Amino acid sequence: MTTPDIAAIRANFPSLTQDQVYFDSAGGSQILGSVVSSLVTHYTVTNVQLGPTYTAAQAALRNYKAGWAAAADYLNCKPEQIVFGASTTQLLRNLVNALQFDKDDEIVVSIIDHESNIAPWLDLAERQGLVVKWWKPETLTGDVSGLLPLITEKTKLVAVTHASNVLGNVNPIKEIAKVAHEKGALLSVDGVAYAPYRPIDVADLDVDFYVFSWYKVFGPHISTLYASPRAFPRIRSLGHFFHDTNTLEGKLGLAGAAYEFVQAIPVVTAYLAPEETRRAIDANHTAILRPLLEYLASDPDKFSVYGGTELHAGRLPVVSFSVKGWSSRKVCEGVEEVSNFGIRWGHFYAPRLVGEVLGRLEDGLDGVIRVSFAHYNSVDEVERFIKVLDSVLSKSPEA
Ligand SMILES: Cc1ncc(COP(=O)(O)O)c(C=O)c1O
Repeated sequence: MTTPDIAAIRANFPSLTQDQVYFDSAGGSQILGSVVSSLVTHYTVTNVQLGPTYTAAQAALRNYKAGWAAAADYLNCKPEQIVFGASTTQLLRNLVNALQFDKDDEIVVSIIDHESNIAPWLDLAERQGLVVKWWKPETLTGDVSGLLPLITEKTKLVAVTHASNVLGNVNPIKEIAKVAHEKGALLSVDGVAYAPYRPIDVADLDVDFYVFSWYKVFGPHISTLYASPRAFPRIRSLGHFFHDTNTLEGKLGLAGAAYEFVQAIPVVTAYLAPEETRRAIDANHTAILRPLLEYLASDPDKFSVYGGTELHAGRLPVVSFSVKGWSSRKVCEGVEEVSNFGIRWGHFYAPRLVGEVLGRLEDGLDGVIRVSFAHYNSVDEVERFIKVLDSVLSKSPEA
């Protein structure tokens, strides 16, 4: 694998000239300079309502439609199969309000997920009298052997994440989809933590719902939901009575999405499209992940690493750990006091995982420390971070 030209990659991101190292990409990525330019162009040239026939409005509509086409193309589906919304949280809330199941139908939800892919399904279950089955994995490295037997002929929907925003491991979605469909269930996948790192092909994955947020993929703060032809007839329209119900936008769009953000999507997908960009992204992720995993694995008495320290194909550059005797907050504050590394601690909106599974929210514990990279981070940054962390931890936790 060729070594990525990290300086060339970084030149695409204007914020990276600041004296701040961004190790919080699972929270949100930095934005492409080309996206910023596209937003400025929109605001200064085509900032009008869609629909009228005058020149600027026609251009705005063309750009908006190009945004839908680019997002659909990126996911390998049709524009009428997607809808944009303010956030993944919002889109999933809209979705569950548009689904109807029968009393006593079963749904399977996953305890390792971000709450935005749990709470809406629990709400749906409560309102419609559904039975909730929880998947609590035995291991935290993408092994779904405990999930598959939960899916039976009674199951109508399975909601699971593509990758954990805490553990950094990828779930085998195709395998889950196969079992779900054999049993007649729909599969809803939260792709937010996966999307910054790998391409997405909803047709190949054979999922029924897939949702992710562009602000973690170097773009603007907007999200996209896909629905399969299998799932589409199950969605009732939340739109006005005169809206088209042949498209997901017509059913769930609710007055359209932020024009400026939608029209910028082709800029994001153009950046990600070239094979060589993808190769560089993959190569750099492995290169930056390795030193941190090796460092944390070198002292198992001191560090607990959630999601494992093995650098396997399904390992994304999101690393959560805790340090024996240290509060996670104190570690982060110690790092911030002496350096410009931006990391964070807590439950990351996955309190069921961090609390019930990892046991890191009980007895005054304050969650885990999460270090998450993007492809614009460098090995040099990671090596400097390890030195800083090591020196912070060489002091007493009470200091
Ligand atoms: C795995 C995962 N799912 C869902 C979300 C929620 O996304 P949004 O902020 O777009 O609602 C996040 C946000 O961090 C996430 O990491």
